[in-house]
Amino acid sequence: MTTELENKSRFLRACRGLPVDQTPIWLMRQAGRYMPEYRAIRARHTMLEVIQTPELAAEVTLQPIEAFDFDAAIIFADILPPLIGMGLNLEFVKGEGPVIHNPIRSAQDVDRLATPPAAETLAPTLEAIRLVTAELTPRGIPLIGFAGAPFTLASYAIEGGSSRTYARTKTFMYAEPAAWKRLMTRLVTVQADYLIQQAKAGASALQIFDSWAGLALGQTDYERYVLPYNQMLFQMVARAGVPVINFSTGTSAYLETVAAAGGDVLGIDWRLPLDVAWQKIGFDHPIQGNLDPVTLLAPWRELKAHIDDVLDRAGGRPGHIFNLGHGILKETPVENVRRLVDYVRERTAGGGA
Ligand code: CP3
Repeated sequence: MTTELENKSRFLRACRGLPVDQTPIWLMRQAGRYMPEYRAIRARHTMLEVIQTPELAAEVTLQPIEAFDFDAAIIFADILPPLIGMGLNLEFVKGEGPVIHNPIRSAQDVDRLATPPAAETLAPTLEAIRLVTAELTPRGIPLIGFAGAPFTLASYAIEGGSSRTYARTKTFMYAEPAAWKRLMTRLVTVQADYLIQQAKAGASALQIFDSWAGLALGQTDYERYVLPYNQMLFQMVARAGVPVINFSTGTSAYLETVAAAGGDVLGIDWRLPLDVAWQKIGFDHPIQGNLDPVTLLAPWRELKAHIDDVLDRAGGRPGHIFNLGHGILKETPVENVRRLVDYVRERTAGGGA
């Protein structure tokens, strides 16, 4: 049965490749530091406090909807908190980003990781999803739930934070293939359950972020050390019965392989022109992207030229969701986001581009 929201939401229609009245738009990291309303909340609460207090997470999730009228909301959370329930000590350190104080450095470390149900360890996010959807469903706006893909999460768990080379992660993967398999399998178990619970709590679509696998690995290693686990995850999450967006960066060289791992929509970065990427995966496969987030810092004539380029290359085909090629930067002027949304609406009104 198709619900009213599934029929009417241009975002959910585009996820299924159906025609829309105008191109749907939302932005990765749309709730964040570029917004004064967000900075006001973060001045009084830590990142984890916001995520773990359902009312605060719900409020922050709604901020960009009220400000810019996006076609979808994304629940305010992060990909890393599920690692806390697995036994890792996560902290968001001001000016430094995420830090894990007891990173995985040995096979024995993998074996001490727990796989608790999301209903126990991620209850505040599930409750925030209920609060947000109670508000947004009557307004016809869908909510996206999300989680990290196993490689991206493993990279934080092993490096203990962000990395440029992923040297520890890759060394572990090469040196301890059996422990790598156990680690990736445990991450898949936890993420699949978390994503399915987010759909049960009310999320109408799910996005899986594999932000770093493509930047870290060539095609052969991707196929050997990542692909089987992503396939497992997408297969398990398909049971949630909602559209799933498969987002990655740095995977242009083997995009067809990434798309074949699963998901209904492929989220792409800004490195390939949209039509080139789309042709690689087939125009019948819905696609999301792919404005370079840095163009939002540029003068309007340059920003407009880049938006036009994305829309020209989408060519008014059904199954395009406008987004950035990666998360919005904290330096982004709010008025450029306003202009972006207005311009995409104006240019695509009527369904064509
Ligand atoms: O899109 C949204 O509005 C939902 C919120 C969201 C956040 N993180 C909030 C956040 C989402 C979808 C994420 C995903 C996430 N988190 C990813 C995958 C997406 C991507 O960008 O590739 C990754 C790799 C992380 C891990 C993470 N969280 C890092 C590396 C950092 C520090 C870097 C930074 O941008 O500050 C975070 C912190 C974080 N997550 C912030 C926000 C709004 C900034 C925290 C703050 O308010 O100080």
